[in-house]
Amino acid sequence: MTAQDPSSLLAIATAVRTRAYAPYSRFRVGAAIRSASGAVHAGCNVENVAYPEGLCAEAGAIAAMVAAGETAIAEVLVIADSPEPVPPCGGCRQKLAEFAAPDVPVTLCTTSGARQVTTVGALLPGAFAAAHLAGAGA
Ligand code: THU
Repeated sequence: MTAQDPSSLLAIATAVRTRAYAPYSRFRVGAAIRSASGAVHAGCNVENVAYPEGLCAEAGAIAAMVAAGETAIAEVLVIADSPEPVPPCGGCRQKLAEFAAPDVPVTLCTTSGARQVTTVGALLPGAFAAAHLAGAGA
């Protein structure tokens, strides 16, 4: 698969990453999502002294997209200062799958220039999805 236009997503994710609030891990992450309209929504990680209350960059970008009135992801890019391109955590894979088809490209980046392109479906095969709720109420 190829990412549609990772260059603009890269610039936006790189910029928002500098605003990450990560005093505990010191690991700053930026995420940018292109939604169906073509708009780009950005998020950075926001940690908390109560560690489990921290938010990942992807979750922030998804929240910005939904707040802007959109619910369809066309493309995702994540960047961090890591030795290898940083993949979304398990919880964020599920959050992305809520709004993205399996073939949606996800570009994983490092600040030193490494790139890896994968898809939402490859990151979360066998995802729990709305269709699995069909028997609810039985
Ligand atoms: N983090 C993200 O924001 N996104 C990822 O894809 C991986 C991890 C954040 C969570 C936490 O603030 C820090 O990185 C270290 O785990």
